[in-house]
Amino acid sequence: MLEIKGLSAEIEGVQVLRRANLSLAEGATVALIGRNGAGKTSLLRAIMGFMKVTEGEISFDGRPLDAVKAHLRPRLGIGYAPEDRRLFPAFTIEENIRLPAEVMKLPAAEIARRLDGIYDVLPELAELRHRPAAGLSGGQGKMAALARALMVGSRVILLDEPFQGLAPVLANRYAAALRTLRDSHPDIALLITESNPSLLRNFAEKAYAIERGEVSEAALAASSLAAAGLH
Ligand SMILES: Nc1ncnc2c1ncn2[C@@H]1O[C@H](COP(=O)(O)OP(=O)(O)OP(=O)(O)O)[C@@H](O)[C@H]1O
Ligand SMILES: [Mg+2]
Repeated sequence: MLEIKGLSAEIEGVQVLRRANLSLAEGATVALIGRNGAGKTSLLRAIMGFMKVTEGEISFDGRPLDAVKAHLRPRLGIGYAPEDRRLFPAFTIEENIRLPAEVMKLPAAEIARRLDGIYDVLPELAELRHRPAAGLSGGQGKMAALARALMVGSRVILLDEPFQGLAPVLANRYAAALRTLRDSHPDIALLITESNPSLLRNFAEKAYAIERGEVSEAALAASSLAAAGLH
């Protein structure tokens, strides 16, 4: 469904992706593992259309994405939770979650339907919905960012280091939410970046490693059931 072929990209003249290949099938959960500065965020940003691509191609349902402007890509059903969350502190949690749908001008009934689905997956957010995002803990902020990505991501959700900075108990809770999402929305593909491969063992069915912008297929050892409670 989402195919990246020979993709190179640069930031201010520095090459950050080097002929990267990656394939994300419908409903798949795929991990992209790499150290700090490896290019994980750059790859996700390229999918969203925020990076200057110098060669290669990204296609979605067989259609080249370079013809689709960044602000129109969410309409294809691609949701993105950036590593720095970017919630608006003065808005309530629900306003933050609704925002991308309102930017897309989805009908009110569709927004309400999607919100209901999101609160089914992330019930703790339903309780907090009218609180300003400014008061959120780190873990709650990650949940809200996931919810906002879900509002848009009816086909694909890109999660940039969602576990980073979460205490183990919150990482467990977040992993449980992802499992619920997996079970309740089996058609949505997830692409999750991490620097620590053990966090996504037993969860992702396929993994890629990224190093200095080069992407290769990698094995995710199916051991360590305890890793972040992901099994
Ligand atoms: N705004 C920027 N200006 C210049 N160089 C940048 C900028 N953002 C990223 N880079 C460089 O691009 C390369 C890839 O960065 P990227 O953020 O994609 O890596 P990452 O794998 O997401 O890292 P992290 O684990 O720290 O989030 C790095 O060498 C980084 O230094
Ligand atoms: Mg990053």
